Amino acid sequence: MTEQEHNTGEVAMLTIGGRTIELPVVEGTEGDKAIDISELRRQTGYVTLDRGFANTASCSSAITFMDGEKGILRYRGYPVEELAEHSEFVETAYLLINGDLPDHKELNRFRMMLNDNSLVHEDMQRFFQSFPRDSHPMGILSSMVTALRSFYPALIGMPRSEAILLTLTRLLSKVRTMAAMSYKISRGHRVIYPRLDLSYCANFLNMMFDNPVKPYEIDHDKVKALNVFWILHADHEQNCSTAAVRLVGSARVNLYAAISAGMAALWGPLHGGANQAVIEMLEQIQAAGGDFRPFIERAKDKNDPFRLYGFGHRVYKTYDPRARIMKAMCDRLLAKLEIQDPLLDMAKELEEVVLRDSYFADHNLYPNVDFYSGIVLRALGIPTNMFTVMFAIGRLPGWISQWMEDAGDPKWKIYRPRQVYVGPAQRPFVPIHQR
Ligand code: CMC
Repeated sequence: MTEQEHNTGEVAMLTIGGRTIELPVVEGTEGDKAIDISELRRQTGYVTLDRGFANTASCSSAITFMDGEKGILRYRGYPVEELAEHSEFVETAYLLINGDLPDHKELNRFRMMLNDNSLVHEDMQRFFQSFPRDSHPMGILSSMVTALRSFYPALIGMPRSEAILLTLTRLLSKVRTMAAMSYKISRGHRVIYPRLDLSYCANFLNMMFDNPVKPYEIDHDKVKALNVFWILHADHEQNCSTAAVRLVGSARVNLYAAISAGMAALWGPLHGGANQAVIEMLEQIQAAGGDFRPFIERAKDKNDPFRLYGFGHRVYKTYDPRARIMKAMCDRLLAKLEIQDPLLDMAKELEEVVLRDSYFADHNLYPNVDFYSGIVLRALGIPTNMFTVMFAIGRLPGWISQWMEDAGDPKWKIYRPRQVYVGPAQRPFVPIHQR
């Protein structure tokens, strides 16, 4: 059940249309306060207008805490820095979904369940084969996730909590298998099946890169890097894709459909698609001779829609804590693997110049998680068009836990925003021969 915000006893007074009403003030556990306007329309006839929900809390949530001014990110109270250092992705997923860190027995059971559910129905492979070869992997994955519901129908007769556990385990395990399958099929290679003896991350790398001619050797530095990459993406409170999962889920659709909606939202270049866009931007700069200054000038030009991908965030008005960890990991991983990536050198120089530029300082634009993540993924051998799929696999525990929180909320309501209508006033229908 969802923890609820508490009423502070404070009120906000609103005087409108000749009368004054009191709106209660509620507070969360970290001291963030909100004016509860749920009675506003009933009492006054007015609604609030807040484009992009920049100032609207759509729910109360006990999963993730962010402080955008201080650059803080915590899952269930644990700083993301500590999780990245000491946890593994499966343990962090358990934490997000269940609310607490598992003990040995709980973690082993969860790992076993993930391994037991890692196979994907063979008929789904045929489904994969029917997509045009150059389809974007995000398009394939979101359709395949919706299709999972047909291959794994509702679990009738099972207690609800067990049915949810099995469904979420299937999702976490099979989406990872399907992502690797789609890569193999896109290359025309034989699909590699998951192995019971490998961990979640090692299994993914093996399914991606093992082949009958050259067996894949598991590299522990790569496995650690993938764990950290996925931990850093595991949740981020009410971002665009999570809000989509909650909104679609609020209509009481099944979990697969809600997650598929999240994937569709994540695909956008302003959201999860930014990791692909960053690398493409860096490659474009490289192809243009390596001088990034004209790109910075374009990003500052109000008449040019171009933006520097990997910079800026709706909530963070300082350095994204995930970007700091990603950058350090990038340095470590490339050094360990003895990889020289000219894009990393260019990214660092670009960041230095941008951080000294008054436009970016005045707009509070700092590197976000996507700025260095693509370079980590390149080092792991992941093709650029799969970067957002990698983000999606990482975000699954977050989407699932947010969906579960909404589903168990005693104050649950279907999401149904209001609008301010600005279209034509009433007018009579004109028959076609008179128009
Ligand atoms: N480059 C240049 N100018 C920028 C950028 C940027 N990357 N980001 C924001 N601005 C400017 C924008 O032009 C506007 O300027 P002004 O006030 O003078 O008109 C101001 O900063 C505020 O921008 P906004 O679009 O109103 O801010 P937002 O909170 O709606 O957008 C954002 C946040 C992430 C969509 C935006 O910063 C952006 O487009 N960044 C590039 C895409 C990107 O890297 N996305 C990944 C986000 S982190 C991963 C995730 O969680 O999805």
